[in-house]
Amino acid sequence: MDSTEIDYTQLSFPDPPSDRPFVAINMVMSADGRTVIDGTERGLGSQLDQRLMRELRVHFDVVMNGGATFRASGTSARLNNPELERWRVDRGMTPSPIAAVLTRSGDLPPERRFFSDDGFEAVIYLSSAAPDSVRRKLESRGRPVVSVPEGKEAVAALDHMKRELGASRVLVEGGAMLNGELISRGLVDEYFLTLAPRITGGESAHPAVQWPGEPTASGIRQLEVVQATRSVGGEMFLRYRFQPVDM
Ligand SMILES: NC(=O)c1ccc[n+]([C@@H]2O[C@H](COP(=O)([O-])OP(=O)(O)OC[C@H]3O[C@@H](n4cnc5c(N)ncnc54)[C@H](OP(=O)(O)O)[C@@H]3O)[C@@H](O)[C@H]2O)c1
Repeated sequence: MDSTEIDYTQLSFPDPPSDRPFVAINMVMSADGRTVIDGTERGLGSQLDQRLMRELRVHFDVVMNGGATFRASGTSARLNNPELERWRVDRGMTPSPIAAVLTRSGDLPPERRFFSDDGFEAVIYLSSAAPDSVRRKLESRGRPVVSVPEGKEAVAALDHMKRELGASRVLVEGGAMLNGELISRGLVDEYFLTLAPRITGGESAHPAVQWPGEPTASGIRQLEVVQATRSVGGEMFLRYRFQPVDM
């Protein structure tokens, strides 16, 4: 398949596991394995990558980021395309997914559009480790704040999405720490990766997935390639499925 035929609205997904929503990650990365340039992901992917990112969102009930991505780039579930919104509405969905952010510090800048954009619903998952004063400050900004227990934040957030938001699919759009938290706990089903034909160089690593400690053979998670498409511009659009692990 070449990129003129690639249309992520046509994708289909397996049923979610019984105990949580189906979870997919979507990232763009340079050929030397970096996901950040000048502090954000902007500039790494092409317009085609942007289109596919929005087309992918149509299938999901929630689009989620970690707190650092919120601070660097903002968190939004917008599709910015009336045809994609209609695609969802025709299938009985809301025009846009719900936007979600997971944070321990509660350091979410108030000027971000997340707090003022009425084009999508949104929820903040705040670790119970955060002081009450932080929680009250966030609540005063108008978006619901859900407390998630310290040490089990990610799994509790997914549980809330399933039980309280009725979510059956969650799309995680980074960054690396949130991706790593979810993958290391066996909570991710698929991984969409755009490999940009670029070398960024630089000293800092900024991988697509990160969790504490050095990599070990026993920590490796095996992937199966579901789809691989090369664009005219040289990007590789990769879709992987995680093989189940006993955690
Ligand atoms: N290339 C791409 O596709 C792409 C995609 C997304 C992001 N990015 C870039 O990646 C960078 C950020 O990535 P990152 O890895 O540094 O950070 P990140 O994963 O976006 O966020 C990490 C933060 O998420 C929160 N978090 C994660 N696990 C948590 C848990 N179990 N409980 C509570 N909170 C938890 C914490 O937020 P608090 O710090 O608020 O406590 C933590 O510091 C940005 O520069 C962004 O632009 C690139």
